[in-house]
Amino acid sequence: MDNNELSKIEKALFGYLPAGQLKEQKLIDAMRYSLEAGGKRVRPTLVMEFCDLCGGNTEAALPFACAVEMIHTYSLIHDDLPCMDDDDLRRGKPSNHKVFGEDTALLAGDALQTLAFEILTSDAACEAAGERACRKAANTLAKYAGCVGMVGGQVIDLMSENTKAPIETVRELVYKKTACLIKASCELGCIAAGADDEKTAAASLYGESIGIAFQIQDDILDCTSTDEELGKPVGSDEENNKSTFVSLLGIEECKKQVDSLTDQALGALDNFEGDTAFLRDYALALAKRKS
Ligand code: IPE
Ligand code: IPE
Ligand code: MG
Ligand code: MG
Ligand code: MG
Repeated sequence: MDNNELSKIEKALFGYLPAGQLKEQKLIDAMRYSLEAGGKRVRPTLVMEFCDLCGGNTEAALPFACAVEMIHTYSLIHDDLPCMDDDDLRRGKPSNHKVFGEDTALLAGDALQTLAFEILTSDAACEAAGERACRKAANTLAKYAGCVGMVGGQVIDLMSENTKAPIETVRELVYKKTACLIKASCELGCIAAGADDEKTAAASLYGESIGIAFQIQDDILDCTSTDEELGKPVGSDEENNKSTFVSLLGIEECKKQVDSLTDQALGALDNFEGDTAFLRDYALALAKRKS
């Protein structure tokens, strides 16, 4: 995944928004605002790379990659709302609700979510990836994004505020709120390529491992970074009295866990015959990321 390929994803991503002046223009502007604000595009990158590793083609994976990024962006808009983490900065810009108001931010999140499934089940996606793959992708994404996936994790995250939740609960919330969408991205890449169950399971394990590591690193950065570097407010977890790996285990132990989860992810790549160099380096880079 180079900058050229990343721009291709972004072009496709922005291209899915309705064009022209509409009655709902403020809603579309709010959706575009958060999509265009940037972000690392970790999830679409994983979709494209796993598809490539399993011998699939770019055109089949592209709608899947865009759909996951839409779900992720919606989750960030809602995560920042006053009823959730109440954060005013996201991707280096004022949070969606600070610009468009809470009502429009809520609805922009809703509309990004439905757009994701519109894309996955579109004629264009079915022509590129096949109807069976699109059905499987829509089902997989819905499962990992929903009540026993990302949304479920967000609920446990909120329930665990102002308590000292046990480590098993924090592990479950991290797995659900963050690792599930990352795991879904890896599986979607395999589905786009028509990979077999063994490869899909290996990709899933890679995603789960880097996904949990990703959230632990996010919690570490919440304590150690700056608003400027992170593009979102540091200290948010402490302010909201969140139960995190860092609050329970401390930063040094968390760093060890990030390293061992990353090792686990690298091990999962042994199940592929193709060139895994990018995904190997990517896991290592995410473990050391500063933003
Ligand atoms: C932030 O995700 C929310 C978490 C799951 C930790 P990212 O760190 O991938 O956010 P962007 O997309 O780069 O803004
Ligand atoms: C959020 O976790 C995970 C989501 C499902 C959005 P955080 O609340 O830690 O994410 P940030 O730090 O606000 O990006
Ligand atoms: Mg949160
Ligand atoms: Mg948050
Ligand atoms: Mg965080």
